[in-house]
Amino acid sequence: MTTASSADHPTRRDFLFVATGAVAAVGAAATVWPLVSQMNPDASTIAAGAPIEVDLTPIAEGQDIKVFWRGKPIYISHRTKKQIDEARKVPVASLPDPQSDEARVKPGHDQWLVVVGICTHLGCIPIAHEGAYDGFFCPCHGSVYDTSGRIRQGPAPSNLAVPPYTFVSDTKIQIG
Ligand code: FES
Repeated sequence: MTTASSADHPTRRDFLFVATGAVAAVGAAATVWPLVSQMNPDASTIAAGAPIEVDLTPIAEGQDIKVFWRGKPIYISHRTKKQIDEARKVPVASLPDPQSDEARVKPGHDQWLVVVGICTHLGCIPIAHEGAYDGFFCPCHGSVYDTSGRIRQGPAPSNLAVPPYTFVSDTKIQIG
């Protein structure tokens, strides 16, 4: 029977129950975390080619970020209207590797350019926002790519590759 005084002042037994409950809760959380953690692909799985998701919300207009997928650098550019217009006003037939800008982006997501950041000449990593076309510049031998990642000058034979990717929402893509 619980007396008024034992309810007001927890006994040693009450304390043990509370302490045991707290330990059980911590134990459960510690058990759940590894299970949740194990559901994410580990670094070696990602390196071997698992798809990766990229949140686009932190990338301001005019900015580029670089992520890695299958060990390759991938540039994600949030293009300005000016950059898109520049990419679309050039006659496609005049390009060394003719391809329209529309064919290199996803419909309805024209502001996002996603390309493999490996120069198609000999594999150097181009620098974003450099070169005469405000796209990418490869410092190794001077190849210049435009705001669609298409080769415009220099020895590179083809455009920067577009990796397989899809929009899983308006602000998130999955590469691979
Ligand atoms: S590797 Fe880029 S221009 Fe040669």
